Amino acid sequence: MLEKTQGSQGFNDYERPHADLREFIARAERAGEVVSIKGADWKLEMGTLAEIVNHARPEPPAILFDDVPGYAKGMRLLSGATNSSKRLAIALGLPVPDHPLDVVRAYRERMKRHRPIAPTTVTKGPVLENIDRDGKVDVLKFPVPLLHEHDGGRYIGTDDLVIMRDPDADWVNGGTYRAMVQDKNHVSLWISPGKHGRQIREKYFRAGKPCPVLISCGHDPLLFLAGGNELRFGLCEYDYAGGHRGEPYEIVLSELYGLPMPAHAEIVLEGEMIEDVKAREGPFGEFTGYYASSPSQQPLIEVKRVYYRDDPILGIASPMRPPSDFSFSKCVMKAGMIWDEVERAGLSGVTGVWVHEFGGARMFNVVAIKQARRAWSGPLDPLLDAASSTNSRAIIDACRPYERLADFPMVARASPELRQKVKEKFADLLATIGCG
Ligand SMILES: Cc1cc2nc3c(=O)[nH]c(=O)nc-3n(C[C@H](O)[C@H](O)[C@H](O)COP(=O)(O)O)c2cc1C
Repeated sequence: MLEKTQGSQGFNDYERPHADLREFIARAERAGEVVSIKGADWKLEMGTLAEIVNHARPEPPAILFDDVPGYAKGMRLLSGATNSSKRLAIALGLPVPDHPLDVVRAYRERMKRHRPIAPTTVTKGPVLENIDRDGKVDVLKFPVPLLHEHDGGRYIGTDDLVIMRDPDADWVNGGTYRAMVQDKNHVSLWISPGKHGRQIREKYFRAGKPCPVLISCGHDPLLFLAGGNELRFGLCEYDYAGGHRGEPYEIVLSELYGLPMPAHAEIVLEGEMIEDVKAREGPFGEFTGYYASSPSQQPLIEVKRVYYRDDPILGIASPMRPPSDFSFSKCVMKAGMIWDEVERAGLSGVTGVWVHEFGGARMFNVVAIKQARRAWSGPLDPLLDAASSTNSRAIIDACRPYERLADFPMVARASPELRQKVKEKFADLLATIGCG
């Protein structure tokens, strides 16, 4: 178990940051924060188990899926790497927390001193242990999950880092954008308009060029935290995450396009997108808890290289009706960012900020303020109750619009039958972790 160490200057309870996902998992296991599930099928069982575990209780454990039927022994998947206060603190190297707000406060303190640290290029690394080239490429050699019943396909990239170089400037962006398998050597990304990856891709397409890309699908969870949170344009996610480690990441350059990949990554795909070569992408259960966006035609990536470690571990971040297996970590980081912003905007007396998981870590944000006087409203407000001088009300309209009741988007949640079947299959194990 992790012990509290007063005034420790280390990385959480450790002398140095974890080198990779594997060392992170070992630390989280030592803290009693990981449950191993053997025998879950890639087809819907992993996604449903992630839902059952993350809906059962707060501070759920991470799930390490092992012995996946039909796949080589040793291949594993990790869901929910940073989805508890302790695991998030281990990932970021923050003090062992008693309460989620301790991590928010520690994160804000960290950000006052945080300075980006650029990665170091090396020529060797475990990610180069295996390289599949051209005709040998088969992304389905890994146990890529089908997460929800209505998804358009199997998603290899959910907890991923999509790496592209800005053709106009000397920097590399890393973003978490979902990657759907089309066939053994093609995947497609969904990148929302406005995201940095989309802006970069457009630059290549406007110049009539293909857009080179790497997709890292298993890595230090710090890189997922960097990739899935909004950093400023021009700030490389390796540098930001390196700033949290206090030492640089090691990167190796990819064979075809010289793009930087984490030297300790588990699986990295390399390919390029061409503007006019597209395929149907989606639908996919979204973080809002709905299938709100329809399938669309998105640029196809022909995967020409797959770099992977022996016994690779694929990361999973499964969006679903919140809470999900990643929403907690987003809530903490967003809460820290909002707290900084409201104080910067001049609001005084802020005593706490929390971003609720039920709002998908974006849409239900609460700011607690110390009362400055016994009133919230001004005397000109006709609703003001003169006797008590208070006026405080909030209304949340959570109704589906009446006109759209019949065709409102489906909820991204396992059907009761599937949930029951999976619960029965893994009943003993789920009971031992308080998720029965
Ligand atoms: C688990 C997870 C999945 C995400 N999936 C997508 C996605 O499929 N497409 C997208 O545009 N943004 C997605 N996002 C949001 C982006 O990762 C996030 O906005 C990030 O800041 C984008 O990087 P950028 O600012 O470099 O564009 C996801 C975030 C998380 C945490």
